[in-house]
Amino acid sequence: MTSKDLAAVIVLAAGEGTRMKSKIPKVLHRLGGRSLLEHAMRAGRAVDPPPEHLVVVIGHGRELVEPHVRELDDAAQMVVQEEQLGTGHAVQCALAALPSVQGTVMVTYADTPLLTAETLTDLHSRHASSGAAVSLLTADLADPSGYGRVVRDSASSVVAIVEHDDASEEQQAITEVNSGIYAFDGETLHAALGRLDADNAQGELYLTDVVGIVRAEGREVIGVPVADVRQTEGVNDRVQLSVLGAELNRRILTRHMRAGVTVVDPATTWVDDSVELGTDVTLHPGVQLHGQTRVAAGATIGPDTTLTDVTVGEGAAVVRTHGVGAVIGGQATVGPFAYLRPGTTLGGEAKIGAFVEAKNAHLAEGAKVPHLSYVGDADIGEHTNIGAGTIFANYDGVAKRHTTIGREVKGGSNSTFVAPVEVGDGAATGAGTVVRQDVPPGALAVSSGPQRHLDDWTIRKRPGTPAAEAARRAQETATGPDVHNSDETPNGRQ
Ligand code: UD1
Ligand code: CA
Repeated sequence: MTSKDLAAVIVLAAGEGTRMKSKIPKVLHRLGGRSLLEHAMRAGRAVDPPPEHLVVVIGHGRELVEPHVRELDDAAQMVVQEEQLGTGHAVQCALAALPSVQGTVMVTYADTPLLTAETLTDLHSRHASSGAAVSLLTADLADPSGYGRVVRDSASSVVAIVEHDDASEEQQAITEVNSGIYAFDGETLHAALGRLDADNAQGELYLTDVVGIVRAEGREVIGVPVADVRQTEGVNDRVQLSVLGAELNRRILTRHMRAGVTVVDPATTWVDDSVELGTDVTLHPGVQLHGQTRVAAGATIGPDTTLTDVTVGEGAAVVRTHGVGAVIGGQATVGPFAYLRPGTTLGGEAKIGAFVEAKNAHLAEGAKVPHLSYVGDADIGEHTNIGAGTIFANYDGVAKRHTTIGREVKGGSNSTFVAPVEVGDGAATGAGTVVRQDVPPGALAVSSGPQRHLDDWTIRKRPGTPAAEAARRAQETATGPDVHNSDETPNGRQ
């Protein structure tokens, strides 16, 4: 291994993060749809050249952090730092787990979520070409308090990092700070770590003391200032979490806008890092896209729509909708005020209209459920139209059952399909039909009896009410419907 190779990226994630005031370890708090730790691990993995080892130092809350790391990256090595004795001690633990350290070792902190692989790659190549023993990313901050200060000599090479609490007044005036992101020559790092002591304000083994040790041996340390200082900002409390979360969101939206997505109002639009958007997608105000959501070219989302793990086809329109784990076909329309639950799939040009809830519902191409319905556990065939107010009664109190509706079916308003039931192609249901038995292809299903009229019922049973008075007047002037017609009316025709 040479300095041009990257032996390891070590991500420090063992600290408690007391200022988060949380039962959840700090590095598991999320922004942009990923944990702080996931942002750090992804950046470390994506460095060019790729690291031979990705090592995550865990400690505090490890029973939660360990499975998370496993899930994110099978190949990541975890090292447990039992007691958090400082950043230098954390790196000692990491190196103890690496068989031999030749080549470059990079260290990052798990609480700097905006750091990119490009910035790490740049630091690595500056380190390799300079031949320095240590290269550190630095940032010039208007308010440097809390950070380690970068002390340079008259030739402007870095001589030491002094932690805020250990700094003299003069040193505290330095605005160039240590970002906590470094590239080391592995062997030099290994030797210097063995010489750390805890003789400082926090009584910890500081990784930053490696700089002074290496310099005392006459080796070179370079500071690489980063122009984009937000990449070095850490999350220590929930205020910083929200500030960096908003900044990350702006960056994600900017990336999509540059790639041809219209974002009408970036301030009210939240898109996870993992979401994929095609060209000419339009996001209206109040949209949140989470998880593995994918939106194909030309689709329109919003306003006021939240989609989690939803796939949206080309040219589809999704308005004021809450969707989870659903697939929406090309040119399909959804909403306003729709709720798509897991397992729902809509074919091309299908429609889920206003105030419709769908769960594990499969609408074939051109199938429509336009108004006020619940569709649970059902297949609906091509170009079938489900009437307003239809309920798919999928639950008998014990088990969930399935309904299958054929193609070109016309469902009457306020029908109820009591599962399990099948409706054949080209069949129809009358308004208010309760379908309990299979309907043969082409049949009209009706279930309510003929309509009856109990004449003068209001006048007899509700005397003196405004309704009775209105009925009496209508009879006198005979302007209403034929008052004595109690013939059978064919039920269920629309
Ligand atoms: C550290 C740097 C400081 C720098 C700042 C940048 C040291 C001594 N100081 O200070 O120069 O300006 O970061 O944000 O390194 N951790 C462990 N094990 C430990 C201690 C910490 O894994 O025993 C991890 C934490 O989980 C965290 C990271 O190391 O991810 C940094 O630790 P933290 O205590 O936040 O260091 P700072 O005081 O911020
Ligand atoms: Ca910190």
